[in-house]
Amino acid sequence: MNRESQKDLSKLPIGIFDSGVGGLTVYRALHDRLPNEKFVYLGDTARVPYGTKSLATVERYAIENSQFLASKGIKLLVVACNTASALALPAIRNAIGIDVVGVIGPGARKAVKMTRESENKRIAIIATEATVLSNAYPDSIAETKEPRTDVIQNACPLFVPLAEEGWTAEDETYSIAGKYLSDIKAFGPEVLVLGCTHYPILSKVIGETIGENVTLIDSGEAAAEEVSLLLEEKDLANSEQISYNRGRHLCDDLDHFFVTDAAERFANVAQRFLGVAPSRLEAIELIGMS
Ligand code: DGL
Repeated sequence: MNRESQKDLSKLPIGIFDSGVGGLTVYRALHDRLPNEKFVYLGDTARVPYGTKSLATVERYAIENSQFLASKGIKLLVVACNTASALALPAIRNAIGIDVVGVIGPGARKAVKMTRESENKRIAIIATEATVLSNAYPDSIAETKEPRTDVIQNACPLFVPLAEEGWTAEDETYSIAGKYLSDIKAFGPEVLVLGCTHYPILSKVIGETIGENVTLIDSGEAAAEEVSLLLEEKDLANSEQISYNRGRHLCDDLDHFFVTDAAERFANVAQRFLGVAPSRLEAIELIGMS
């Protein structure tokens, strides 16, 4: 590709999709790390949750979401949803001719990196049922070939509605976290990967329950670090410096948000998660994408 067209490409937004609102935590991580980039976000709110669905269904939804975002003209796709990253990355890569970054690989690699110096490397993962069943995190950790690494994982499905309800400090949330994390606590991990988009919203409860000597790893933040490196490597980072020209804020009109249902609820939860609702939010139908 010549220099001019590479420069044009670098001005395109980054696509992000999630099963719903949870991916906003990944959007925030990307936005914080890459203030010169614009984002197009799709939340598949009509079909959420993905975490209890089958491989075939998650693949089909993920392909439709990816094709929709590709049709908007993006330079890179970030699959914010851990479940879709665990189950559907190969199918997505087959369906669109754009670089795709999921959250599982970055989260797993960061966990390995952070435990590398220890004698016994104990990594814990919490995620949706489908992500746990897929074994994607342990497989990704195994791919690093780091010796003496032990992994434990547990599904924490109730964390998703608790985060969306904004129950971030209630007694009930602490009690549920205590149950979900008891085996993990007994395992004695050094790090705990938050392998679901919603879990960073509950990081205070999770952190206090598991204990302060366990480091929490946000897979969305890990993905944002890898996206930043990939943009540099591929010469795709936007050099326009929009942040300096006009100021840059979460959910401002440089970023475009789409949902497949219930836009008002999405805006309300965005307000709860990010402290601000998207200024450009549209409800769409994905009919005919695949
Ligand atoms: N976005 C999903 C994930 O990160 C959580 C919500 C769902 O089950 O769809 O796995």
